[in-house]
Amino acid sequence: YVIGVDLGTSAVKVLLVDQKGAVVAQASQPYPLAQPKPGYSEQDPEDWMRGVTAAIHELLAKTDVAPTAIEGLSYSGQMHGLVLLDAQGNVLRPAILWNDTRTTAQSAEITAKMGAQFLAITRNRPLEGFTLPKLLWVKENEPAIFAQAASFVLPKDYVRYRMTGHLEMELSDAAGTVMLDVAGKKWSDEICEAFGIPTSLCPPLVEATKQVGTLTPAYAALSGLDPATAVFGGGADNACGAIGAGVLQPQQAMCSIGTSGVVLTYEPDATADYHGHLHLFNHAAPNAFYSMGVTLAAGYSLSWFKHTFAPDEEFTPFVNSAATSIPGAHGLLFTPYLVGERTPYADAAIRGSFIGVDSKQTRADFVRAVLEGITFSFRDILEIYAANGKAFKQLVSIGGGAKSPLWLQMQADVFNTPIVRLTSEQGPGLGAAMLAAVGLGWFATLQDCAAQFVQVKQVYQPDPAAVTQYQKLYDCYRDVYPATKNLTA
Ligand code: XUL
Repeated sequence: YVIGVDLGTSAVKVLLVDQKGAVVAQASQPYPLAQPKPGYSEQDPEDWMRGVTAAIHELLAKTDVAPTAIEGLSYSGQMHGLVLLDAQGNVLRPAILWNDTRTTAQSAEITAKMGAQFLAITRNRPLEGFTLPKLLWVKENEPAIFAQAASFVLPKDYVRYRMTGHLEMELSDAAGTVMLDVAGKKWSDEICEAFGIPTSLCPPLVEATKQVGTLTPAYAALSGLDPATAVFGGGADNACGAIGAGVLQPQQAMCSIGTSGVVLTYEPDATADYHGHLHLFNHAAPNAFYSMGVTLAAGYSLSWFKHTFAPDEEFTPFVNSAATSIPGAHGLLFTPYLVGERTPYADAAIRGSFIGVDSKQTRADFVRAVLEGITFSFRDILEIYAANGKAFKQLVSIGGGAKSPLWLQMQADVFNTPIVRLTSEQGPGLGAAMLAAVGLGWFATLQDCAAQFVQVKQVYQPDPAAVTQYQKLYDCYRDVYPATKNLTA
């Protein structure tokens, strides 16, 4: 058996997976997200540790599998979050997360200083969500804390450090710091030097399927796991999502709806050039890469709407109520820019909107509009791929959006592309387990592992009438951003 730890933004999920790829038990623990100021998004790393340990306890309690039969453990982690540590490994301040947008000035500073060279090295534009602007924000705004910093890590690397005592940063996640020479797979001295970041702050890099060690006796005792459990590097959640979705060949793509939303494709090398309009990062699959576009508030928009207007309802019937509305939600259009938008606008200041509110509309129309607006935001990403000559024959859907047949069909209709539903929508957690499975030598490659672990359940075909309707609605959706930019920013 192996365990995949999926350290998300709203919760941690742990999966116990057998050698055939079956999820034999799972457990989850939520943790809070703090927004002390508009645009801020922080978490206490201690909450991750409490959540992970409680989820492992719950997992072990749900199964007869003995801890000694669990051979390996690996991770999928929310990306980009800055965890600053002092020389003793103590956390210096709350982690600043991927959806925190306080760093517009620092991002502009990076562009002004390095511009094209930055893109050439990191293969990305410096956006608010990435880690380097967060480091610069701390350096400028909390110099006393920055002065005490001995290293920085990303969320799942911090959890792995606490579980094993080994302080390393895993490569696919390290790419999201935008301090890496992505093609060269090493920290960029040019970038550290240009922005006054001591290279001593950058931990050693480790590959996703590499074993970093075993559990410390103290963590084994705390969690109930066996101290001999082999612990592997793990990967960025989107890289792990792609692995768990079996998206491991050129031309394959996925659509993932978690707190954020992502459309991603596998890149066999680092040559693809989207001029910074899409991200390009190292994959957790050895020597591969992936490109993607990101909607900041995908599942987050839906959970915000539900928790604000229907806090006591069950999630599934709430989502399904959208079926009583119609495509276009009787004239209601939603843009999901609750915390700004990454792709395609790279605009941290924009905010969302409901357009076309009419007294004949019901709450079901609002739920439908939220689902449609989120789905249109993915279509924006697909348009960038299309403009770069990439059209996908199908998309594998994972995450929350893959749980609802209504939403799966909506994706097929809005994208005019067949949508694949897998037997498990647990992309990142399964991908994490697969990294351990390959690390243990159960399979020679992740592709071999995917052939065994990833099974298609159903394919949703686009309905031509709905495709035509959604095309018109999408054209309206495109008009909302320029029209609301100056109103909501
Ligand atoms: C990717 C990104 C998000 C987070 C979510 O660049 O910021 O998708 O990885 O955990």
